[in-house]
Amino acid sequence: MKPQHLALLTSGGDAPGMNAAIRAVVRTAHFHGIKAIGVMDGYNGLVKGSFIELGPRDVKNIVQRGGTMLRSARSEAFRTPEGRATAAKNLRDAGIDALICIGGGGTQTGAHQLAIEHDIRVMGVASTIDNDLGASDRTIGFDTACNTALEAIDRLRDTASSHGRIFFVEVMGRDTGFIAMHTGIAAGAEYVMIPERRESVDELVKVLENRSSEKGSSVVVVAEGDQEGGAFKLAEQVKACCPQFDIRVSVLGHLQRGGNPTVADRLLAARLGAGAVEGLIAGKSNCVVGVVKGDLTYTPHAEAILMKKAIEPDLYRLLPMLAV
Ligand code: F6P
Repeated sequence: MKPQHLALLTSGGDAPGMNAAIRAVVRTAHFHGIKAIGVMDGYNGLVKGSFIELGPRDVKNIVQRGGTMLRSARSEAFRTPEGRATAAKNLRDAGIDALICIGGGGTQTGAHQLAIEHDIRVMGVASTIDNDLGASDRTIGFDTACNTALEAIDRLRDTASSHGRIFFVEVMGRDTGFIAMHTGIAAGAEYVMIPERRESVDELVKVLENRSSEKGSSVVVVAEGDQEGGAFKLAEQVKACCPQFDIRVSVLGHLQRGGNPTVADRLLAARLGAGAVEGLIAGKSNCVVGVVKGDLTYTPHAEAILMKKAIEPDLYRLLPMLAV
Protein backbone atom coordinates (compact mmCIF):
# COMPACT_ATOMS: atom_id res chain seq x y z
CA MET A 1 0.00 0.00 0.00
CA LYS A 2 2.89 2.35 0.77
CA PRO A 3 3.50 4.55 -2.28
CA GLN A 4 7.04 4.43 -3.64
CA HIS A 5 6.96 7.62 -5.63
CA LEU A 6 4.50 10.43 -5.01
CA ALA A 7 3.81 13.68 -6.80
CA LEU A 8 2.41 16.85 -5.29
CA LEU A 9 0.93 20.02 -6.72
CA THR A 10 -0.70 23.25 -5.65
CA SER A 11 -3.69 24.44 -7.64
CA GLY A 12 -6.32 27.20 -7.78
CA GLY A 13 -5.83 30.44 -5.86
CA ASP A 14 -2.61 30.36 -3.88
CA ALA A 15 -2.80 30.59 -0.10
CA PRO A 16 -0.24 31.50 2.56
CA GLY A 17 0.94 28.22 4.08
CA MET A 18 1.01 26.27 0.81
CA ASN A 19 4.81 26.33 0.95
CA ALA A 20 4.74 25.02 4.51
CA ALA A 21 2.46 22.21 3.30
CA ILE A 22 4.84 21.38 0.41
CA ARG A 23 7.71 21.21 2.88
CA ALA A 24 5.74 18.94 5.20
CA VAL A 25 4.80 16.57 2.36
CA VAL A 26 8.36 16.34 0.99
CA ARG A 27 10.00 15.84 4.37
CA THR A 28 7.41 13.34 5.62
CA ALA A 29 7.85 11.40 2.37
CA HIS A 30 11.63 11.45 2.88
CA PHE A 31 11.21 10.28 6.48
CA HIS A 32 9.26 7.25 5.23
CA GLY A 33 11.62 6.51 2.34
CA ILE A 34 9.25 7.70 -0.40
CA LYS A 35 10.48 9.71 -3.43
CA ALA A 36 8.69 13.02 -4.02
CA ILE A 37 8.14 14.87 -7.29
CA GLY A 38 6.80 18.42 -7.53
CA VAL A 39 4.38 19.26 -10.37
CA MET A 40 4.78 22.85 -11.60
CA ASP A 41 1.81 25.16 -12.30
CA GLY A 42 -0.96 23.04 -10.82
CA TYR A 43 -2.89 20.74 -13.14
CA ASN A 44 -1.36 22.48 -16.18
CA GLY A 45 1.97 20.95 -15.20
CA LEU A 46 0.36 17.56 -14.86
CA VAL A 47 -0.95 17.80 -18.43
CA LYS A 48 2.41 19.06 -19.73
CA GLY A 49 4.52 16.69 -17.62
CA SER A 50 6.41 19.52 -15.85
CA PHE A 51 7.89 17.57 -12.97
CA ILE A 52 10.82 18.37 -10.65
CA GLU A 53 12.45 16.10 -8.11
CA LEU A 54 12.11 17.35 -4.55
CA GLY A 55 14.38 16.23 -1.73
CA PRO A 56 14.30 17.50 1.87
CA ARG A 57 16.86 20.26 1.14
CA ASP A 58 14.91 21.54 -1.86
CA VAL A 59 12.21 22.80 0.48
CA LYS A 60 14.48 24.66 2.87
CA ASN A 61 13.65 28.25 3.83
CA ILE A 62 10.12 28.14 2.46
CA VAL A 63 8.10 27.49 5.60
CA GLN A 64 7.82 31.24 6.24
CA ARG A 65 7.09 32.32 2.66
CA GLY A 66 3.70 33.13 1.15
CA GLY A 67 2.78 31.93 -2.36
CA THR A 68 3.79 28.51 -3.61
CA MET A 69 7.22 27.45 -4.89
CA LEU A 70 5.43 25.03 -7.26
CA ARG A 71 3.35 27.91 -8.64
CA SER A 72 -0.35 27.54 -9.25
CA ALA A 73 -2.94 27.85 -12.00
CA ARG A 74 -6.58 27.39 -12.80
CA SER A 75 -6.18 24.87 -15.62
CA GLU A 76 -8.54 24.84 -18.59
CA ALA A 77 -6.75 21.86 -20.16
CA PHE A 78 -7.36 19.68 -17.11
CA ARG A 79 -11.10 20.40 -17.21
CA THR A 80 -11.36 18.30 -20.39
CA PRO A 81 -11.42 14.45 -20.35
CA GLU A 82 -8.52 14.48 -22.85
CA GLY A 83 -6.46 16.70 -20.55
CA ARG A 84 -7.05 14.39 -17.60
CA ALA A 85 -6.16 11.33 -19.70
CA THR A 86 -2.85 12.97 -20.66
CA ALA A 87 -2.22 13.88 -17.02
CA ALA A 88 -2.83 10.28 -15.90
CA LYS A 89 -0.51 8.97 -18.63
CA ASN A 90 2.22 11.40 -17.61
CA LEU A 91 1.96 10.24 -13.99
CA ARG A 92 2.14 6.57 -15.00
CA ASP A 93 5.04 7.14 -17.41
CA ALA A 94 6.97 8.84 -14.59
CA GLY A 95 6.34 5.86 -12.30
CA ILE A 96 4.27 7.92 -9.86
CA ASP A 97 1.84 5.92 -7.79
CA ALA A 98 0.09 8.64 -5.73
CA LEU A 99 -0.74 12.33 -6.12
CA ILE A 100 -1.23 14.94 -3.40
CA CYS A 101 -3.34 17.95 -4.44
CA ILE A 102 -3.09 21.04 -2.25
CA GLY A 103 -5.93 23.50 -2.87
CA GLY A 104 -9.58 24.40 -2.50
CA GLY A 105 -12.87 23.13 -3.94
CA GLY A 106 -11.93 23.23 -7.65
CA THR A 107 -8.66 21.46 -6.93
CA GLN A 108 -10.40 18.69 -5.00
CA THR A 109 -13.00 18.24 -7.74
CA GLY A 110 -10.16 17.78 -10.25
CA ALA A 111 -8.41 15.28 -7.97
CA HIS A 112 -11.61 13.30 -7.60
CA GLN A 113 -12.16 13.16 -11.38
CA LEU A 114 -8.61 11.90 -11.91
CA ALA A 115 -9.14 9.21 -9.27
CA ILE A 116 -12.42 7.88 -10.62
CA GLU A 117 -11.65 8.16 -14.32
CA HIS A 118 -8.08 6.85 -14.22
CA ASP A 119 -7.76 4.95 -10.97
CA ILE A 120 -5.03 7.23 -9.63
CA ARG A 121 -4.50 7.29 -5.85
CA VAL A 122 -5.04 10.88 -4.79
CA MET A 123 -5.03 12.72 -1.49
CA GLY A 124 -6.33 16.29 -1.12
CA VAL A 125 -5.00 18.88 1.30
CA ALA A 126 -7.55 21.56 2.26
CA SER A 127 -6.06 24.91 1.33
CA THR A 128 -7.87 28.10 0.33
CA ILE A 129 -8.06 31.52 1.91
CA ASP A 130 -11.86 31.29 1.50
CA ASN A 131 -12.19 28.52 4.13
CA ASP A 132 -15.07 27.04 2.17
CA LEU A 133 -14.10 23.37 2.21
CA GLY A 134 -16.30 21.36 4.54
CA ALA A 135 -13.64 18.67 5.01
CA SER A 136 -11.67 20.86 7.42
CA ASP A 137 -12.80 23.33 10.06
CA ARG A 138 -10.06 25.67 8.84
CA THR A 139 -8.26 25.58 5.52
CA ILE A 140 -4.62 26.55 5.04
CA GLY A 141 -4.33 30.28 4.31
CA PHE A 142 -7.56 31.44 5.90
CA ASP A 143 -6.04 32.63 9.17
CA THR A 144 -3.29 34.61 7.42
CA ALA A 145 -5.74 36.19 4.97
CA CYS A 146 -7.97 37.24 7.88
CA ASN A 147 -5.05 38.77 9.75
CA THR A 148 -3.92 40.65 6.67
CA ALA A 149 -7.42 41.98 6.03
CA LEU A 150 -7.85 42.86 9.69
CA GLU A 151 -4.69 44.94 9.75
CA ALA A 152 -5.93 46.88 6.72
CA ILE A 153 -9.40 47.39 8.21
CA ASP A 154 -7.89 48.66 11.48
CA ARG A 155 -5.93 51.23 9.48
CA LEU A 156 -9.01 52.26 7.55
CA ARG A 157 -10.87 52.70 10.83
CA ASP A 158 -8.21 55.20 11.95
CA THR A 159 -8.77 57.41 8.96
CA ALA A 160 -12.56 56.82 8.96
CA SER A 161 -12.84 58.16 12.50
CA SER A 162 -10.55 61.13 11.84
CA HIS A 163 -12.80 62.26 8.99
CA GLY A 164 -16.18 61.00 10.20
CA ARG A 165 -16.54 58.80 7.14
CA ILE A 166 -18.24 55.56 6.24
CA PHE A 167 -15.88 53.02 4.73
CA PHE A 168 -17.03 50.10 2.62
CA VAL A 169 -14.19 47.58 2.71
CA GLU A 170 -14.35 44.71 0.24
CA VAL A 171 -12.61 41.49 1.20
CA MET A 172 -12.19 38.28 -0.81
CA GLY A 173 -14.82 35.56 -0.87
CA ARG A 174 -16.51 34.91 -4.18
CA ASP A 175 -18.97 32.38 -2.80
CA THR A 176 -18.59 32.68 0.91
CA GLY A 177 -18.37 35.27 3.67
CA PHE A 178 -15.94 33.60 6.09
CA ILE A 179 -13.27 36.28 5.73
CA ALA A 180 -15.86 39.08 5.86
CA MET A 181 -17.63 37.74 8.93
CA HIS A 182 -14.49 36.86 10.88
CA THR A 183 -12.66 40.10 10.14
CA GLY A 184 -15.85 42.13 10.55
CA ILE A 185 -16.33 40.90 14.10
CA ALA A 186 -12.63 41.15 14.92
CA ALA A 187 -12.47 44.73 13.61
CA GLY A 188 -15.67 45.84 15.34
CA ALA A 189 -17.36 46.58 12.02
CA GLU A 190 -20.83 48.12 12.10
CA TYR A 191 -22.14 45.83 9.39
CA VAL A 192 -21.08 42.84 7.31
CA MET A 193 -22.47 41.85 3.90
CA ILE A 194 -21.93 38.25 2.77
CA PRO A 195 -23.10 35.98 -0.07
CA GLU A 196 -24.80 33.55 2.33
CA ARG A 197 -27.46 36.00 3.43
CA ARG A 198 -29.32 38.70 1.59
CA GLU A 199 -29.41 41.80 3.78
CA SER A 200 -31.74 44.66 3.01
CA VAL A 201 -29.99 47.84 1.97
CA ASP A 202 -32.69 49.77 3.89
CA GLU A 203 -31.67 47.97 7.06
CA LEU A 204 -28.02 48.80 6.41
CA VAL A 205 -28.91 52.47 5.85
CA LYS A 206 -30.84 52.51 9.14
CA VAL A 207 -27.87 51.11 11.03
CA LEU A 208 -25.51 53.58 9.39
CA GLU A 209 -27.79 56.52 10.15
CA ASN A 210 -27.88 55.57 13.84
CA ARG A 211 -24.23 54.69 14.18
CA SER A 212 -22.85 57.59 12.21
CA SER A 213 -24.67 60.20 14.25
CA GLU A 214 -23.55 58.55 17.52
CA LYS A 215 -20.08 57.37 16.61
CA GLY A 216 -18.99 59.65 13.79
CA SER A 217 -17.66 56.85 11.57
CA SER A 218 -18.62 53.39 10.38
CA VAL A 219 -16.98 50.43 8.72
CA VAL A 220 -18.95 48.02 6.56
CA VAL A 221 -17.12 44.85 5.55
CA VAL A 222 -18.38 43.42 2.26
CA ALA A 223 -17.49 40.02 0.81
CA GLU A 224 -16.71 40.35 -2.90
CA GLY A 225 -19.50 37.88 -3.72
CA ASP A 226 -22.22 39.56 -1.65
CA GLN A 227 -25.62 39.64 -3.26
CA GLU A 228 -25.59 43.40 -3.96
CA GLY A 229 -22.55 43.03 -6.23
CA GLY A 230 -19.64 44.16 -4.06
CA ALA A 231 -18.53 47.25 -2.14
CA PHE A 232 -18.72 49.84 -4.94
CA LYS A 233 -22.29 48.90 -5.92
CA LEU A 234 -23.39 48.88 -2.32
CA ALA A 235 -21.76 52.21 -1.60
CA GLU A 236 -23.54 53.71 -4.63
CA GLN A 237 -26.91 52.50 -3.36
CA VAL A 238 -26.30 53.90 0.11
CA LYS A 239 -25.07 57.22 -1.28
CA ALA A 240 -28.22 57.47 -3.42
CA CYS A 241 -30.38 57.18 -0.27
CA CYS A 242 -28.16 59.31 1.95
CA PRO A 243 -26.24 61.94 -0.03
CA GLN A 244 -25.10 63.50 3.26
CA PHE A 245 -22.85 60.48 4.02
CA ASP A 246 -19.15 60.93 3.33
CA ILE A 247 -18.40 57.51 1.84
CA ARG A 248 -15.17 55.88 0.72
CA VAL A 249 -14.58 52.41 -0.72
CA SER A 250 -11.51 50.26 -0.35
CA VAL A 251 -11.08 46.93 -2.15
CA LEU A 252 -8.38 44.84 -0.49
CA GLY A 253 -8.13 42.31 -3.33
CA HIS A 254 -5.16 40.04 -3.83
CA LEU A 255 -3.03 41.50 -1.06
CA GLN A 256 -5.05 39.11 1.13
CA ARG A 257 -3.50 36.16 -0.71
CA GLY A 258 0.13 37.02 -0.02
CA GLY A 259 2.37 37.38 3.00
CA ASN A 260 4.08 35.21 5.57
CA PRO A 261 1.74 32.56 6.98
CA THR A 262 0.67 32.86 10.61
CA VAL A 263 1.49 30.29 13.29
CA ALA A 264 -1.99 28.77 12.88
CA ASP A 265 -1.53 28.32 9.12
CA ARG A 266 2.00 26.90 9.40
CA LEU A 267 0.87 24.44 12.04
CA LEU A 268 -2.16 23.40 10.01
CA ALA A 269 0.05 23.00 6.92
CA ALA A 270 2.49 20.83 8.88
CA ARG A 271 -0.32 18.58 10.15
CA LEU A 272 -2.15 18.29 6.84
CA GLY A 273 1.01 17.86 4.72
CA ALA A 274 2.32 15.08 6.96
CA GLY A 275 -1.19 13.66 7.32
CA ALA A 276 -1.56 13.44 3.54
CA VAL A 277 1.55 11.26 3.18
CA GLU A 278 0.82 9.12 6.24
CA GLY A 279 -2.78 8.66 5.11
CA LEU A 280 -1.56 7.27 1.79
CA ILE A 281 0.84 4.97 3.63
CA ALA A 282 -2.09 3.74 5.72
CA GLY A 283 -3.93 2.83 2.52
CA LYS A 284 -6.30 5.78 2.28
CA SER A 285 -6.94 7.45 -1.05
CA ASN A 286 -9.40 9.67 -2.85
CA CYS A 287 -10.04 11.74 0.24
CA VAL A 288 -9.28 15.18 1.66
CA VAL A 289 -7.21 15.48 4.79
CA GLY A 290 -8.41 18.12 7.22
CA VAL A 291 -8.70 18.94 10.90
CA VAL A 292 -12.19 18.67 12.36
CA LYS A 293 -12.77 19.46 16.05
CA GLY A 294 -9.01 19.25 16.62
CA ASP A 295 -8.50 15.82 15.05
CA LEU A 296 -6.95 14.84 11.74
CA THR A 297 -9.69 13.51 9.45
CA TYR A 298 -9.94 11.95 6.00
CA THR A 299 -13.18 12.80 4.18
CA PRO A 300 -13.88 10.93 0.93
CA HIS A 301 -13.56 13.27 -2.04
CA ALA A 302 -17.07 12.36 -3.24
CA GLU A 303 -18.42 13.76 0.03
CA ALA A 304 -15.94 16.60 0.48
CA ILE A 305 -16.73 18.28 -2.83
CA LEU A 306 -20.46 18.35 -2.09
CA MET A 307 -20.25 19.53 1.52
CA LYS A 308 -21.60 23.03 2.13
CA LYS A 309 -19.78 24.69 4.99
CA ALA A 310 -21.77 27.20 7.00
CA ILE A 311 -20.43 30.20 8.86
CA GLU A 312 -20.70 29.63 12.64
CA PRO A 313 -24.36 30.58 13.38
CA ASP A 314 -23.60 32.45 16.63
CA LEU A 315 -21.49 34.98 14.70
CA TYR A 316 -24.62 36.32 12.99
CA ARG A 317 -26.01 37.21 16.41
CA LEU A 318 -22.77 38.58 17.83
CA LEU A 319 -22.22 41.13 15.13
CA PRO A 320 -25.20 43.44 15.75
CA MET A 321 -24.99 42.89 19.50
CA LEU A 322 -21.38 44.03 19.70
CA ALA A 323 -21.50 46.76 17.08
CA VAL A 324 -23.77 49.13 18.99
O1 F6P B 1 -8.61 31.61 -3.86
C1 F6P B 1 -9.87 32.08 -3.61
C2 F6P B 1 -9.98 33.47 -4.16
O2 F6P B 1 -9.02 34.29 -3.56
C3 F6P B 1 -11.37 34.06 -4.02
O3 F6P B 1 -11.62 34.63 -2.75
C4 F6P B 1 -11.36 35.07 -5.13
O4 F6P B 1 -12.65 35.33 -5.57
C5 F6P B 1 -10.59 34.37 -6.21
O5 F6P B 1 -9.73 33.47 -5.55
C6 F6P B 1 -9.79 35.28 -7.10
O6 F6P B 1 -9.20 34.52 -8.09
P1 F6P B 1 -8.08 35.02 -9.10
O7 F6P B 1 -6.78 35.09 -8.35
O8 F6P B 1 -8.08 34.01 -10.16
O9 F6P B 1 -8.50 36.39 -9.55
